[in-house]
Amino acid sequence: VVFLRAYDIILKKRNGNKLSQKEIDFFIQGYVNGSIRDYQAAAWTMAVYFNGLDREETANLTLSMINSGEKINLESIQGIKVDKHSTGGVGDKTTLVLVPLAAAAGVSVAKMSGRGLGFTGGTLDKLESIPGFNISLDKEKFLDTVKQIGCSIAGQTGNLVPADKKLYSLRDVTATIDIVPLIASSVMSKKIASGADKIVLDVKTGKGSFMKKTEDAFKLAEIMVEIGTELEKETIAVISDMNQPLGCAVGNALEVKEAIKTLQGEGPEDFQELCIKLGSLMLLLAGKVKCIDEAELILQKIISRGKAVDKFFELVKMQNGDTKVFENLDLWCNSPVKAEVKLQEEGFIHQIDAEIIGNIVMHLGAGREKKEDKIDHKVGIVLNKKNGDSIKKGEIAAVVHAKNESDAEEAVNKIKDTFVIKTEKSSSVKLIHGYVDKNGKSD
Ligand code: URA
Repeated sequence: VVFLRAYDIILKKRNGNKLSQKEIDFFIQGYVNGSIRDYQAAAWTMAVYFNGLDREETANLTLSMINSGEKINLESIQGIKVDKHSTGGVGDKTTLVLVPLAAAAGVSVAKMSGRGLGFTGGTLDKLESIPGFNISLDKEKFLDTVKQIGCSIAGQTGNLVPADKKLYSLRDVTATIDIVPLIASSVMSKKIASGADKIVLDVKTGKGSFMKKTEDAFKLAEIMVEIGTELEKETIAVISDMNQPLGCAVGNALEVKEAIKTLQGEGPEDFQELCIKLGSLMLLLAGKVKCIDEAELILQKIISRGKAVDKFFELVKMQNGDTKVFENLDLWCNSPVKAEVKLQEEGFIHQIDAEIIGNIVMHLGAGREKKEDKIDHKVGIVLNKKNGDSIKKGEIAAVVHAKNESDAEEAVNKIKDTFVIKTEKSSSVKLIHGYVDKNGKSD
């Protein structure tokens, strides 16, 4: 009998050798039950950074992580259940639009979301800017909500993938987040344990995402699609741009307002386009349509007839949120100070760095530096201009929403520095870099 030891598994990976399923299981189980320590797991994740995990190891890691906790059973909900997941970005309020939009088109979505991490925002924090909105639903209430109105968005119910909770917070403080096989197993274990039949992934690439290089984002997408396909959860990934923030609003309540406008058909062009694309894939996977074009037409109609925003209203009401928010978006959740960002240069905008904007918004109070920090839902930034736009001297490039004058002034100065303006036109901005499904990559 060979006794497994954490030490040997770390050493094996450090030396660039392949781990067996048994070794991966032993390591993950040991880490979850506490017999393997944080410092050993940290050494292991760093060894994975340098030496990687192959496809088989990544699939085995995903399975071990799924088996570390409970799984949600969605079988009592009729029809094909489709889930979506974004690898995280700045101004990414896609869930707030996609969930009610897909539900209004007849696709059931039981969405479990997370909180913000570092410079990226989290859906739960955004929703909690709506007074009373309850994200802590128990399993029964979560499933009942989906059965009644076709969708629900809640924090994790039950003890899903405890291995990811531990590993993720460890990776967050040991510079081991941006590692393709670790992100793939983290995302796919949660998606599969959440019980949906099919999965749409929004894999972000660029300055405001974990995958700075587009080729890495494709690699990540391919591995996740492969894992999904192998475990009989058909998965399609969209690789979308996160060099500049998505849409215009960054900050919790500001993003909810922008999501509501988008559900009414009045959102920023890039954000609207991404929601329609992702939504169409959800309809396709759910078997509601034969092709993407048909899905896009259906979703456009749902939006223009007011059915998408009505569904979000219903969702807010079902989860105890104050629906007065919908009556006048401008009156609700306003920060005490608003400051305009005016630039001295003129020309065309070549860059608005999403990561820097994300960090400024976090420092304004919209995110957490430490886990226990409280969030200010009112603060953030609204961009008036995006990459490729022209701008005149003195024109308003953005508006800062802050809790006081000094925060506002600091943010205004920092934002000015992140705009790269040149006299020549910038090349067109690509929002979607491509797709990956079980047949491979496409444009
Ligand atoms: N999102 C996740 O859920 N996990 C990761 O590891 C990175 C992004």
